[in-house]
Amino acid sequence: MSRWRNKLGEGETRGWALPSAALCAATSLNGGGEARCAHISSAPSGHLPLKGKVLGVRGGIGLDSGGGRGYNGAKMTPAQAGRPKEVTTMMHIGLLGFGVVGGGVWALCAPRDDLNVKRVLLRSPKEGLPEEVVTFNADDILNDPEIDTVVEVMGGLHPAYEYVSAALARGKNVVTANKALIAAYYTELTALAREKGAALRCTAAVGGGIPWLTNLERVKRLDTVCTVGGIMNGTTNFIMDAMHKAPVDFPAILKEAQDLGYAEADPSADIDGDDIRRKLCISANIAFDAALEETAIPTFGIRTVTAADIAAFQSHGFACKLLARAESTENGVCAYVEPTLVDAGDLEAAVPANFNLITYEAEQLGRQSFYGQGAGRFPTAENVVQDCLTVLSGKRGFYTDRAVPMFLTSGEAHPYYVRTSAPDAFLRGRTAETWDNGAVITGAVDVYEMLAWAKAQREKDPGVFIAGIR
Ligand SMILES: NC(=O)c1ccc[n+]([C@@H]2O[C@H](COP(=O)([O-])OP(=O)(O)OC[C@H]3O[C@@H](n4cnc5c(N)ncnc54)[C@H](OP(=O)(O)O)[C@@H]3O)[C@@H](O)[C@H]2O)c1
Repeated sequence: MSRWRNKLGEGETRGWALPSAALCAATSLNGGGEARCAHISSAPSGHLPLKGKVLGVRGGIGLDSGGGRGYNGAKMTPAQAGRPKEVTTMMHIGLLGFGVVGGGVWALCAPRDDLNVKRVLLRSPKEGLPEEVVTFNADDILNDPEIDTVVEVMGGLHPAYEYVSAALARGKNVVTANKALIAAYYTELTALAREKGAALRCTAAVGGGIPWLTNLERVKRLDTVCTVGGIMNGTTNFIMDAMHKAPVDFPAILKEAQDLGYAEADPSADIDGDDIRRKLCISANIAFDAALEETAIPTFGIRTVTAADIAAFQSHGFACKLLARAESTENGVCAYVEPTLVDAGDLEAAVPANFNLITYEAEQLGRQSFYGQGAGRFPTAENVVQDCLTVLSGKRGFYTDRAVPMFLTSGEAHPYYVRTSAPDAFLRGRTAETWDNGAVITGAVDVYEMLAWAKAQREKDPGVFIAGIR
């Protein structure tokens, strides 16, 4: 329990830290350009795919010739490649989209003998692709019987939904990085994959390059997951981290994030919490075998945080991060996204730049966290290609085979930092103390009640900012 809960002594809240917390952190938390995942990766086991030349017809089962090539094209023996000699198949891929992630997928597949990107769907001409591979007509992929797997990295809901559902309906496997698509059509797409015996994988959709969903799937084989969440959006972490390192206001640091390519021209999905909410929704659905309505998850973003707020947090020993959290409760799932004050010495406080730190707590295993790059061409493309290899090894279906509609329930209460120019009776009735900057600290307030109040309060005070205190 945090010192604020001890101090305020109101209400029982469920915090993150377990006494027997097991944190798999193996790397430093300093920034940098490369992906660094703190967990010693342990993706689902299965037959390792062979990179060596496949003997036999395309799409059929063949015997590996025994060799392989590294990503740089250098020939490797099976031992060097770390793979036993075994029977394998070749995957024929139809790639939808050739942008940041699509270009990375192409580059990672190109030197491999077991992943053949047969066609690439473009919307506008692109450099760097052989002419015979390019198509501007999705039917050239969807109607090609040799293409067994569709990799969707176009983004957006439409026509991604139409293409992905058509591919699954034809029994083709689908690998996607598209969190918006999976969160919005979760029940339908997972059911279709099950019905058709096809694979549906989306590891890159949550955590970019972090093998988060694969480990969530794995832990469920032996244990019961109780909570999921954490820092799941690199853009907002970049902004919050920068604001803690120098007294800079939100609009200035948002512009810097845009100049660096960390934030979109329209940053709303990141700073208002929609992106992290989608990732939380997918994670909670897999963790709890649920089918949550994404847009129903209460969310408050960081758009209104100021340099003065950050200075106040720091003077009280806190750091502020945009955190997602979902907990399995007796009556359903309690899920929400909100700025959160964590102790300055906590693990989340140390996550720099645009890195992510995603955590589950399981009944027996305790807490396990995954740190790394939540975005970027090669981190994200690696998870896409890893999914292809998992499918190639024989895995079908989704990460869970159940999707039970569940109620979103409250059930958690904690203190809040609230800064508003228009305090009302609700806030006055819950105020435990007032800070020097005029913001108030509440006693323990029901999370859903507080987030509903904050949403409504924006009508009276568009600059209102709240943060839960962990
Ligand atoms: N970038 C990351 O770090 C990251 C991380 C995790 C997940 N993701 C997800 O991965 C997906 C792709 O992201 P991205 O960053 O690679 O996006 P991107 O750079 O904008 O690339 C998307 C590509 O898809 C193409 N496209 C869009 N609609 C199309 C259509 N109807 N037909 C054919 N091509 C179409 C675009 O073509 P034009 O060039 O002609 O517009 C563009 O080249 C998104 O769902 C995103 O959320 C990305």
